[in-house]
Amino acid sequence: MAFTALLALATIAATVRAAPAAICSDGTVVSNSVCCDFVPLATALQSTLFMNDCGEDAHESIRLMFHDAVSISQSQGPSAGGGADGSMLIFPTIEPNFPANNGIDDSVNNLIPFLSMFPTISAGDLVQFAGAVALTNCPGAPRLEFLAGRANATAPAVIGLIPQPQDNVTSILDRFADAGNFSPFEVVSLLASHSVARADKVDPTLDASPFDTTPFTFDTQFFLETLLKGVGFPGLDNNTGEVASPLPLGDTASGGNDTGMMRLQSDFLLARDERTACFWQSFVNEQDFMTQSFKSAVEKLAILGSNRADLIDCSDVVPIAMPAAGVPATFPATTGPRDLQLTCLTEQFPSLTVDPGATETLVPHCSDGSEDCPTVQFSGPA
Ligand code: HEM
Repeated sequence: MAFTALLALATIAATVRAAPAAICSDGTVVSNSVCCDFVPLATALQSTLFMNDCGEDAHESIRLMFHDAVSISQSQGPSAGGGADGSMLIFPTIEPNFPANNGIDDSVNNLIPFLSMFPTISAGDLVQFAGAVALTNCPGAPRLEFLAGRANATAPAVIGLIPQPQDNVTSILDRFADAGNFSPFEVVSLLASHSVARADKVDPTLDASPFDTTPFTFDTQFFLETLLKGVGFPGLDNNTGEVASPLPLGDTASGGNDTGMMRLQSDFLLARDERTACFWQSFVNEQDFMTQSFKSAVEKLAILGSNRADLIDCSDVVPIAMPAAGVPATFPATTGPRDLQLTCLTEQFPSLTVDPGATETLVPHCSDGSEDCPTVQFSGPA
């Protein structure tokens, strides 16, 4: 009898946990009433900033979630920075001016208006939520958990906490370990973000130079293409933090300003260093493994500076993510296995096909969501 009663109680308890805790004013059912404010925020971000697209504004928000969060230091103590605390938005005339944050001002300026539109949401929550929403627009990216309740920053972070592309591997790994005990595997996992990245500040003469041939999809091409030997630069060849890329030539034939591919020195080194190369290679053509590894690492990043137990799980307000295209990684046209620079010899490299043609075509994409935008061709050296 006692056992039956206990079982009944346990069943009720389980039912209560599973039951919706709140219905928002628009009828959305969420796990906690605190999450309701994020429902219109997601809609506003998608309809006025990202346009449901994995374009420039989404990329910049994904970068911002990193730069805000990593600004914390176990060795320097709390005064160095509060981690994912929105300090970048609260002190917009200080942190965005640090050299490592070059270009971050676009995303900061994009998000600041949402602070007054959603006054109950902290700046730290806004930055991390915007990054999570942005990722859902990039086919193949994970739907992150989202925990709400970060306290607002009370001071800006100090300079020097954000890794730079000219840093060596030891200092990059040390910085991540100091920020939040990230392992070398987690550092490599976080760099899946560079599968949806382009740079316009490393070489200021270029406009949006991609890090791989698929900068609008969260796929493993970035990990493959970073392992190919570099042959040239898309613009100037003496930029700090940049090394030669395998496809430096963009589509100049059409008269556009489409740039060839750029490669960061830090990505190049992490792909070849004995501490990280096997992790790097393990992501090539392993979409699910890469995505899950990124998800775990970035969820750890997103709560730096807070205690997980103090936050409220609002994962249900993160939009459903765009699924991966499900296509295998391929060597871009004009490249092939002969161009691989593999330093991890304990893992077998996957057998991949080579795209046909004399040039590699970047899938047409317009960051404003319109259809009529140019197809970009990448070429190897002439
Ligand atoms: C070793 C660590 C890292 C270094 C040195 C690094 C460096 C850089 C640099 C130099 C750029 C180009 C900025 C520009 O010229 O516009 C960039 C872009 C980007 N980074 Fe990183 N990054 C690192 C890690 C991360 C992480 C952990 C994330 C996110 C979780 C991230 C997300 C991005 C994104 C999305 C972009 C593209 C921004 C855009 O297209 O506007 N990065 N990164």
